[in-house]
Amino acid sequence: MSVHRDDRRLTAPDILARKGGVPIAMLTSYHAHTARLADQHCDSILVGDSLGMVMHGLETTVPVTLDMMILQGLAVMRGSKRALVVVDMPFGSYEASKEQAFHAAARILKETGCGAIKLEGGVRMAETIRFLVERGIPVMGHVGLTPQSINTLGSFRAQGRDPADWAPIEADARAVAEAGAFSVVLEAIAEPLAAKITKDVPIPTIGIGASATCDGQVLVLEDMLGLSPRVPKFVKRYADLGPSIERAVAAYAEEVRSRTFPGPENVYPVKKAP
Ligand code: KIV
Repeated sequence: MSVHRDDRRLTAPDILARKGGVPIAMLTSYHAHTARLADQHCDSILVGDSLGMVMHGLETTVPVTLDMMILQGLAVMRGSKRALVVVDMPFGSYEASKEQAFHAAARILKETGCGAIKLEGGVRMAETIRFLVERGIPVMGHVGLTPQSINTLGSFRAQGRDPADWAPIEADARAVAEAGAFSVVLEAIAEPLAAKITKDVPIPTIGIGASATCDGQVLVLEDMLGLSPRVPKFVKRYADLGPSIERAVAAYAEEVRSRTFPGPENVYPVKKAP
């Protein structure tokens, strides 16, 4: 179901207003062509720093740079018209100080034209989120599993599977909301905890490996299309495009070698006989 009311682009306040309403559909995109497809059905497109793994074959999101995010954010803005485009702040571009965060976020907004940024961290980032929001930068928070902290976490493990660990995760989500974020991603959080946070915080929660009760969901496009070689348990594959692409590539290579491609329909004859 598409919930776009008109042709204007959705804004952060539009997404905030969806708390407790029709669930928010969000997907990642890093390219103009996939952005055009996502834009027709989704409320929001995330230019996630997962592009480091998906586009560049990196092991983690840690090496992703601000310039990489801006380049792909620009492509997604060109390819989309109606969805709110949210661009991730990459590791190292915002944690040192709120001023550093402002300069990086302002570059993203000015150079891509996107409508919001996303950053990872709860209580520890609350002051920064408030600073950005007060200066006109809409912020989407991200708590639970925060992949940019992989080097301190040690592994990409689901969070809050023991109720004894719930309190700091709940405090993170509350801190992000109180600091003025317009929504928050809950990544890889035990289902009942994600449901509880969704009930308790006044801003939309966007789940990824969280709960169907969240106010919205996000997935990495290439994961749900079956293009990623390894995916976490929380990914549902809505298509299996890998084998189709491989068959097409094999057929192309075979036809090149047998000189059946290009065929007469793919070449330009002269208009008059020589
Ligand atoms: O980078 C990304 O794709 C993300 C999602 C996993 C939420 O942050």
